[in-house]
Amino acid sequence: MSLIDRDRASVWHPYTQALTQPAPLPIARAKGIYLYTEDGRRILDGISSWWVNIHGHSHPKLNEALAAQARELEHVMFAGFTHRPAVELAERLLAVLPQGLGRVFYSDNGSTAVEAALKMAAQYWSNLGQPQRRSFVTLHHAYHGDTVGAMSASEDSVFTRAFAPMLFPVTRVHAPYCYRCPLGLTRASCNIDCLGDLEARLQELGDTAAGVLVEPMLQAAGGMIVWPREFLSGVRQLCDRYGTLMIADEVLTGFGRTGMMFACEHANVSPDIICLSKALTAGYLPLGATVTTPAIYEAFLSQDRSKTFFHGHSYTANPLACAVALASLDLFREESTLERVAALEQSLRTGLEPLRSLPNVGDVRVIGGVGVVELASDQPGYFDALGPRLNAAFLDRGLLLRPLGNVLYFMPPFAIEPAETEWALEQIATVLKLS
Ligand SMILES: Cc1ncc(COP(=O)(O)O)c(C=O)c1O
Repeated sequence: MSLIDRDRASVWHPYTQALTQPAPLPIARAKGIYLYTEDGRRILDGISSWWVNIHGHSHPKLNEALAAQARELEHVMFAGFTHRPAVELAERLLAVLPQGLGRVFYSDNGSTAVEAALKMAAQYWSNLGQPQRRSFVTLHHAYHGDTVGAMSASEDSVFTRAFAPMLFPVTRVHAPYCYRCPLGLTRASCNIDCLGDLEARLQELGDTAAGVLVEPMLQAAGGMIVWPREFLSGVRQLCDRYGTLMIADEVLTGFGRTGMMFACEHANVSPDIICLSKALTAGYLPLGATVTTPAIYEAFLSQDRSKTFFHGHSYTANPLACAVALASLDLFREESTLERVAALEQSLRTGLEPLRSLPNVGDVRVIGGVGVVELASDQPGYFDALGPRLNAAFLDRGLLLRPLGNVLYFMPPFAIEPAETEWALEQIATVLKLS
């Protein structure tokens, strides 16, 4: 039996309609920005293996950090125990995160980082004697993960609808989706009027608002929506004005993806809670971190044990993952990673902006290492048939892109060389001109 036949007989893949979708591609190995299939094809990883990879696959330094840690301590439970990689990583994260954050809570993926943030915010208010503060405000087009809390906070969509009875209600407000402005305005002349919706809802919620959860600067799975930075500073100001917590989901945007180490830096804001995962381990191992201000942490300190944060996972602060994360932070300095992202951003702008004039292109958006082409569509969204068609066309050319319906994006590892970026952009232009 071939590997595909064995896979088909025993495995259930995520987000995959097994009856109608093409068979999965067997990947034998990966190096740098390339994936190599079992039958010897080379594919440029144009979406960083679901947005996690930054320094390239199988990086010698990360491989060595992982092997060295495995020889010492592969895992130990994190309640009642600690270890050097977890402590050092917390210290190093706090040194590079926006000022004001002071305490790192580990988990094991992006959804759990968000789930922990929501629970922390709710219990924070309860511990302070304000249990009525339990409503969350989130944005339209948001995606925060697939666990029940993270789904509740995400946009009501095909991803969440089957689970509606399990979800808790949230208040959803306008996102600054300038290409499809919810108020019908244009960015050149608007005054970030869409923020008014958040303000109105916070006014209504009064002292019941627990927090506002946002994906700063780039709403990813909901359509790769790039924000004006003024919206981000506005969210911070409104959270302060209405006395509620600002929670930044930087699961995707963290670690350079938008050009800054963290997207909150675009507006020089510091959230009360930040959620990290994905590129935290450079795409090697699952690890999440929910980082809070000292004030939030202190609200959990009490002689009354019921005020403890009763949340944890078996693989919390896994030492292998922490060791790779530390080596990844070293690489940011050694390989001038943020400078590489700046150069990549420039190439993306130069290569993608001319595509605006194509009749099938609606909008072009670039931020940091992410280039987006939103294609004109009568039925925009995840189920737009354009997505699978384009995916197949690019794979034929040796480029992995996995459009979100009519939203095509290129998000390679930062290790990509200028000539490789140019080649990928040429493929994008050619396929769009043929489509
Ligand atoms: C902004 C954001 N938050 C949370 C998640 C969930 O992360 P995970 O897939 O690791 O659970 C994602 C995943 O794409 C994401 O983009």
